[in-house]
Amino acid sequence: MSIRWLTASDRPLLRAATLANMNWCGLRFTFDDLDQSEDLAHYYSDFPREDDFGMLDEAAGDVRAVAWLVFFSAEHPGYGFVEETIPELSITTFDGFRVQGIGERLLRGIIAAAAERGMPGISLSVEDGNRARSLYSRSGFQVVGRSGDSDTMLLRLATS
Ligand SMILES: CC(C)(COP(=O)(O)OP(=O)(O)OC[C@H]1O[C@@H](n2cnc3c(N)ncnc32)[C@H](O)[C@@H]1OP(=O)(O)O)[C@@H](O)C(=O)NCCC(=O)NCCS
Repeated sequence: MSIRWLTASDRPLLRAATLANMNWCGLRFTFDDLDQSEDLAHYYSDFPREDDFGMLDEAAGDVRAVAWLVFFSAEHPGYGFVEETIPELSITTFDGFRVQGIGERLLRGIIAAAAERGMPGISLSVEDGNRARSLYSRSGFQVVGRSGDSDTMLLRLATS
């Protein structure tokens, strides 16, 4: 198993992960839907801009999971937008590798990396019914808002 940082060449992977996230409860979106929606495509199309970063877990040639942080603007917010200084988390463990502790380990890694970089927090959006919510709660994320059928959650990080 190895962990590495993401680069712009990983955008196709982030596109696939975004599709998996949007389809967490069944087939609702296609790649075309993502690409044609600025609100969805901006999770991967320009990654990494400025301070965006992310990491992936791979083993035996398979990418098993990916987690990444994107800074959005108030003019073009993500679904889990809180403020411009706080990046939004996306995390995906790919089918076949779920519920083996891989996502939680990667989440711990990206939280530690964001703290090391002095980021004041991490936000996310989680839809009602998604069991990822308990993973986020026990990792310290708290509900700070509501948008449609989703909660916005925020993890505050200690800044020195
Ligand atoms: C959410 C996700 C990233 C978690 O990664 P993972 O590697 O499966 O998670 P881990 O094995 O490290 O941890 C298991 C935890 O994941 C959460 N979880 C999310 N979906 C789950 C599922 N279908 N089955 C079981 N646990 C799930 C639970 O909190 C679980 O902990 P619990 O058993 O104590 O409740 C992964 O399941 C996934 O990619 N799901 C589909 C896309 C998605 O929902 N992304 C998040 C959008 S907000």
